[in-house]
Amino acid sequence: MRLCSAEGFADRTVMEGIVILGSTGSIGVNTLAVIRQNPGRFSVEGLSGHDNVALLAQQIREFRPKQVAIGEGRGAHLQALIAELRPQPEILEGIAGQCRIAEAPSATRVVAAVVGAAGIKPVMAAIRAGKTIALANKECLVMAGALLMEEARRRAVRILPIDSEHNAIFQALQGAADNSIDHLTLTASGGPFRRKPSAEFGSISLQEALRHPNWQMGQKITIDSATMMNKCLEIIEARWLFDLPAAKIKVLVHPQSVIHSLVTFRDGSTLCQLGLADMRIPIAYCLGFPERIPSGAGWLDLAALGSLTFEEPDPVKFPALRIAYEVLALGGGAPAALNGANETLVGLFLQERIRFTQISDILQALVARLRVIGETGAPDEWQCLQEVRQWEDAIQADAWGRAFALRQATEAVTGTSTRQRSSDGSAETRVPT
Ligand SMILES: NC(=O)c1ccc[n+]([C@@H]2O[C@H](COP(=O)([O-])OP(=O)(O)OC[C@H]3O[C@@H](n4cnc5c(N)ncnc54)[C@H](OP(=O)(O)O)[C@@H]3O)[C@@H](O)[C@H]2O)c1
Repeated sequence: MRLCSAEGFADRTVMEGIVILGSTGSIGVNTLAVIRQNPGRFSVEGLSGHDNVALLAQQIREFRPKQVAIGEGRGAHLQALIAELRPQPEILEGIAGQCRIAEAPSATRVVAAVVGAAGIKPVMAAIRAGKTIALANKECLVMAGALLMEEARRRAVRILPIDSEHNAIFQALQGAADNSIDHLTLTASGGPFRRKPSAEFGSISLQEALRHPNWQMGQKITIDSATMMNKCLEIIEARWLFDLPAAKIKVLVHPQSVIHSLVTFRDGSTLCQLGLADMRIPIAYCLGFPERIPSGAGWLDLAALGSLTFEEPDPVKFPALRIAYEVLALGGGAPAALNGANETLVGLFLQERIRFTQISDILQALVARLRVIGETGAPDEWQCLQEVRQWEDAIQADAWGRAFALRQATEAVTGTSTRQRSSDGSAETRVPT
């Protein structure tokens, strides 16, 4: 099947096959909304969800994929909900099921919209199968960015960033020579607590942290935005996506979320991308690339906005902004360990088992511990810092980070017990108190 002409534009006589991993989440639902805006252009070949069987069933009825994947043990329930459909999609379960649909021969693009480390194996399977990746799942780049980008390069696979900041940079870089970049600036809304004095952070409730001023997103990334860990993960993501040293990646607080990021070139020019805070815009760019296709989002009205404002970030109030550079300097599995710890702590905060401030306190303790391990080569723990040469190294470092975070959190969570899912989503660990 020929999809791209010599000029790189799609042959419109063929619908392009798309797989969406994480179709039941915020990015997944927005991706399907963009596909709805472009009838006759895409065929949905595979969809996946984890818990949300009812929504996945609804999506199957509308988009009629050939294959679907759902969390372990939920296939029969899904089957029952779509029993009368003909033809029936193949129903798969768990990470192995997601890897199978990521390799679907009839698809050329895979949208990676699973949240967290659970997305890493299916993304890798899609790269190995030569699919173009529309990547929302930043955690897999944080865990194993060098490895993932190297694998993509070797297989001439294109990674198109959905994350709005990286998508903006990717857009601004079109036509630019690699050696023309001076630095990148990731914009940050500052989250719901930009103006809150840090002395009041101790009393932040889950509901307050889930109220992002500009973006409607899944729970994990919304909490990451409140702690500014999202920006930390994005600095690491940008380091690998654009192959630039961390020192060339800066952060600028821009509360209106209209400018989605900027590239400054060595001649002094700065290019940026503007748009409403609507993820359908970067998703449409990744689905249509190199063409631009309708997204269903509205237009910016700059006159109505009147002004755009900018502030320096505050790394004292939000230590996550420092942590990104520290773990990149430590190298090896340090970012994966950080990611695993952060996922664990966000999970605990969402269950209201720990306080908001404990997320960044424990992450800072983790970085301090990693520094000691780096200096002393602590015999039982040095593996978490070794170079990530294969996926298993990243998963081992991620597991170390989860265990560290759980230990620290358990000390604070007295009189209760906590359940945590492992990085591949397959097992649970019970933490006694
Ligand atoms: N939302 C945004 O605006 C936004 C913007 C930029 C980047 N991103 C990134 O995009 C990714 C997705 O974010 P989101 O906001 O769409 O998250 P979300 O709404 O929480 O959706 C997550 C998706 O992953 C699935 N999932 C969760 N745990 C899983 C597991 N263990 N195994 C397989 N699938 C699993 C969920 O399935 P069920 O719902 O069926 O359980 C759902 O389909 C994240 O990495 C995030 O950082 C999101």
